[in-house]
Amino acid sequence: MTHRIGVIRGDGTGPEVVAEGLKVLEAVRDGFEVELVVFDLGADRYLRTGQVLPDEDLEGLRGCDAILLGAVGDPRVKPGILERDLLLRIRFELDQYVNLRPVIRYPGVQTLVPSHTEDDVDFVVVRENSEGLYSGAGGFHRKGTAQEVAVQESINTRHGVERIVRYAFDVAANRRKHLTLVHKTNVLTFAGDLYQRVVDEVAPTFPDVRTEYVHVDAACIYFLDQPSRFDVIVTDNMFGDIITDLGAMIQGGMGVAAGANIAPEGVSMFEPIGGTAPDHTGKGTINPLAAIAAVQMLLVLLGEERAGDRVHAGIGYATQRMKSMRAGEMGYSTAEVGDLVIEGATS
Ligand code: IPM
Ligand code: MN
Repeated sequence: MTHRIGVIRGDGTGPEVVAEGLKVLEAVRDGFEVELVVFDLGADRYLRTGQVLPDEDLEGLRGCDAILLGAVGDPRVKPGILERDLLLRIRFELDQYVNLRPVIRYPGVQTLVPSHTEDDVDFVVVRENSEGLYSGAGGFHRKGTAQEVAVQESINTRHGVERIVRYAFDVAANRRKHLTLVHKTNVLTFAGDLYQRVVDEVAPTFPDVRTEYVHVDAACIYFLDQPSRFDVIVTDNMFGDIITDLGAMIQGGMGVAAGANIAPEGVSMFEPIGGTAPDHTGKGTINPLAAIAAVQMLLVLLGEERAGDRVHAGIGYATQRMKSMRAGEMGYSTAEVGDLVIEGATS
């Protein structure tokens, strides 16, 4: 069995963390082959050629079994270009409509919330990944004048809401059977209403799953005050973006938080959810665990559960030995953290 894995190292610390992810993948690989297809995409390619995501590259990505992405964004490039035309374009074109972000605590990790025990934080956010405020709908009127109007619309289709809600119910059915809709129905009375109605309509097909509703602002309180109330959260694209950064912080920081952009019928893409960390680029100080956790999710999606479990165990082995999850304060270099994971995964 050979898995064809597309690799987008990307910008900033992306290449360094991807290197560790691939090193771990190679070390745990057992009973399957991997063919890496490296794509030169990101700020360097754009600054060199003006190209962000040419059609040939997009077709190449479509031909992979899964994609591993480092990070995109670069201080030399105007904000929005790489984000929209590379990352979001891949998510949309490959119809990766689920953004699955586990919020879990690895052993020994300190967080900013000392009242949390290690078992308190164990849930997964199912973020809608194809529409909402990310659709790009809207525009300027009289741009640059005193009468300027900027409209940015949230597009929520029944098709889009239904498929993400069904996916989330399915995740919940395979976990602790509790699904929370997070939205802002008291203000977003159209989009929120659609989400709530779809949850209510789908609920009878999952009789074992209890459902609950929490406003997004209150959810932020509960992330800090009572995270154990969550098992699976379903939410729209923008709310999902925001709450998963808070989720990363209660996991121990961006250094450990991974996510999957899942196309249930197509090619999925796995990424550390933190950014490019320009301050740490090229220093060997960035934490590669998030990218390694992305590899773990990738392995599970490819059906390589056993290898995925080994990576998971290896991450736990590393977190118990590291001083901190913060870049530059780990007590180990980026490559040494990768070595620790391998030591734990293969012992
Ligand atoms: C994320 C990122 C992206 C998003 C940006 C880089 C476009 O913040 O993956 O969470 O907003 O989805
Ligand atoms: Mn984000």
